[in-house]
Amino acid sequence: MWLVPGGFAWRNPTNIPGPIGWPFLGLLPYMGSHAHQKLASLARSMGATRLMAFSLGSTRVVITSDPEIAKEMLCGSAFANRPIKESPSLLMFERAIGFAPSGKYWRHLRRIAATHMFSPKRVLGLECLRQRVCHQMMEKVSNEMSLRGVVELRGILQKGSLRNVIESVFGSGLGLEIEEELGVLLSLPEDDQLNHADMVAVLWEMIFRGTDTVAILLEWIMARMVLHQDIQAKAQDEIEDLVGPSRPVQDSDVQNLVYVQAIVKEVLRLHPPGPLLSWARLATHDVHLGKFFVPAGTTAMVNMWAITHDPSIWKNPWNFKPERFIEEEFPIMGSDLRLAPFGSGRRVCPGKSLGLATVNLWLAQLLQQYKWLPSTNVDLSECLKLSLELKRPLKCIAVAR
Ligand code: HEM
Repeated sequence: MWLVPGGFAWRNPTNIPGPIGWPFLGLLPYMGSHAHQKLASLARSMGATRLMAFSLGSTRVVITSDPEIAKEMLCGSAFANRPIKESPSLLMFERAIGFAPSGKYWRHLRRIAATHMFSPKRVLGLECLRQRVCHQMMEKVSNEMSLRGVVELRGILQKGSLRNVIESVFGSGLGLEIEEELGVLLSLPEDDQLNHADMVAVLWEMIFRGTDTVAILLEWIMARMVLHQDIQAKAQDEIEDLVGPSRPVQDSDVQNLVYVQAIVKEVLRLHPPGPLLSWARLATHDVHLGKFFVPAGTTAMVNMWAITHDPSIWKNPWNFKPERFIEEEFPIMGSDLRLAPFGSGRRVCPGKSLGLATVNLWLAQLLQQYKWLPSTNVDLSECLKLSLELKRPLKCIAVAR
């Protein structure tokens, strides 16, 4: 019964190539800490990079490693829902933006996010907070160095990022500000108002989504900085030239720090925090992707990691070379699926500007204030949990500049 392309869940024959997989389990045993790599090499070996069918238990899944098909998938109307497993549904998380089915309620949340929580004006206005949190992180780095002579950045970045997101979402601890922030959610027109549980779901989600991604991305960047001393020095020269040593880098400097920005893009390419774009999409109706027929109810995934490591798309894809983003202007916010670390289409990450503003500013300051050296061999092994993490925390030596 499962001896068909795609396996057990694809009992109605499909023209999409795919592995038969294990009886009843399909590729479930594959979905561990290296799922993105295993799915990429399976698709390659089966000539199924455009679209591959497989089963996860009784769930029918398609995955693409091709930017054109990815665009159709993410930007078309068919895949605007997320597959909901029992647990988020029980926990009310289908009331959160990330899980809410595409419809009036979800559109409403997206509008609140775009106009109130993450509007350009708001992101800009949160610079003070980013600066303050960054300053505290630098003090911790300095303390760790004097206490132990070595810094493990992960904990510092996680705490900093958590604080940054909590205060971005709730306000900065002053009673008035909190009321103002929550006011956004409380003072909506009557029809649109969020009840208490919905608000909790949305606020929880922002904290849960926004903390990890930023901290993990910065740890990857710093691992690369420690490993490639020449590139680190080039970024420091840029900061020295454009900002100098006497004041901390500000948001307004970042647009001129093109090499620092190129480093962030290159790390997003080599180590995308959501290599499978984190959350899959669900087909709400029958649809064609390229020449393939995909029935309603199919779960769809994009293997962004496979796309960003494809030698037919990226020259020498395994080389760490920020210069590639200097030579060619490249948008990373979702319009070009060759590198779309924040997803694309209607469900694109709403926190992308806040996330990038934070990562760019903190990286520039980390490089401005310290020279970063390895304390042991830098181990770039990956581990896919909710996001793609460094398997072992980075340990380094920070020398004040
Ligand atoms: C470097 C930082 C970040 C990365 C790489 C990232 C990546 C992503 C990706 C890949 C998606 C799925 C998009 C899709 O399906 O097309 C997503 C969705 C989402 N992200 Fe982010 N994200 C980041 C930061 C943030 C921040 C700071 C927040 C909020 C504070 C946030 C909140 C969300 C939410 C609520 C969704 C669900 C959107 C929906 O389903 O409508 N993210 N993110």
